[in-house]
Amino acid sequence: MRVLTGMQSSGAPHIGNWFGMMKQTIELQNDGKNDCFYFIADLHSFTSQKNSEEFRINQERCVIDWLALGVDPEKSIFYRQSDIRAHTELTWILLCQTSMGLLDRAHSFKDKKAKGLEANAGLFTYPVLMASDILLYSAEIIPVGKDQKQHVEMARDIAQKFNAHYGETFVLPEPKILKNVETIPGLDGQKMSKSYGNTIDIFAEEKELKKKIMSIKTDSIPLGQPMDPKKCLVFAFHKLFGNPHLKDLESKYKNGKIGYGDSKKMLFELVWDYFRSARERRENLLLNKKFVQEILEKGAQKANVIAEAKLSQVREKMGLSGKHLV
Ligand code: TRP
Repeated sequence: MRVLTGMQSSGAPHIGNWFGMMKQTIELQNDGKNDCFYFIADLHSFTSQKNSEEFRINQERCVIDWLALGVDPEKSIFYRQSDIRAHTELTWILLCQTSMGLLDRAHSFKDKKAKGLEANAGLFTYPVLMASDILLYSAEIIPVGKDQKQHVEMARDIAQKFNAHYGETFVLPEPKILKNVETIPGLDGQKMSKSYGNTIDIFAEEKELKKKIMSIKTDSIPLGQPMDPKKCLVFAFHKLFGNPHLKDLESKYKNGKIGYGDSKKMLFELVWDYFRSARERRENLLLNKKFVQEILEKGAQKANVIAEAKLSQVREKMGLSGKHLV
């Protein structure tokens, strides 16, 4: 299967991102059955980021974080959206096939506007750039968080409309959402999200990570009293991170043999260990920017060939010449 997904380059990745989307993305790459395209959706970040220095730092960090977390440029095509010109060109073509009504229905635009983001035309037409990202590579499976499901469906609608009008051109993509871990709770039990300020960042410093984990919300059952693991957020995290002693922990909870403080300390060890090798890879990559640059160059070259071939096909269908004169 051809798998493709993009990651916005805004802010540090957190545990909600990992279990919601990143983990399955890496698994799809590693199971050897798929042809994967993973890219940094840096052009999308312009809808909300206006500071060029901040943009650059986030973009670079995002590249390094993904490589550290397991994107393997030998197994996947890994690139930056902004390196491939075809994305923006196809966006214009698809914009002319997209009704205002379709875009008007986007929940994400409404949510972002309600949160006070400037409602620029880029934000409104965000799903069309995303459709280009997907359709240029004939991607079939799009692993995304639940919040992006509608965008993938829109890409499908736009592709269908184009195909119906100009003849079979685009493959129809499908979103892939992991069912059992759709919503990862944050420190306060609400959905983990940067905008709620309740995230646990994957690459937080040791002290910071400990502080975050110690601040996970719990009730105030006194030490020695039985606690219900099903109602405990800390326990939910133990489960999520695959604590190998979960059964034992569960009985300690039920018998009042453990308090929240100790459970949190154990959780910290578990989380710190879980991301240990990613952290080490990240430290190496940070010291080896030239190597990272080479990975990006190779990825862009491979992606560009595929994207240009599709764009050329589209141009011809529309009555343009397949190749640009210059
Ligand atoms: N909009 C996605 C997000 O915020 C990122 C993205 C951009 C993307 N283009 C894409 C995801 C194409 C999948 C396919 O998470």
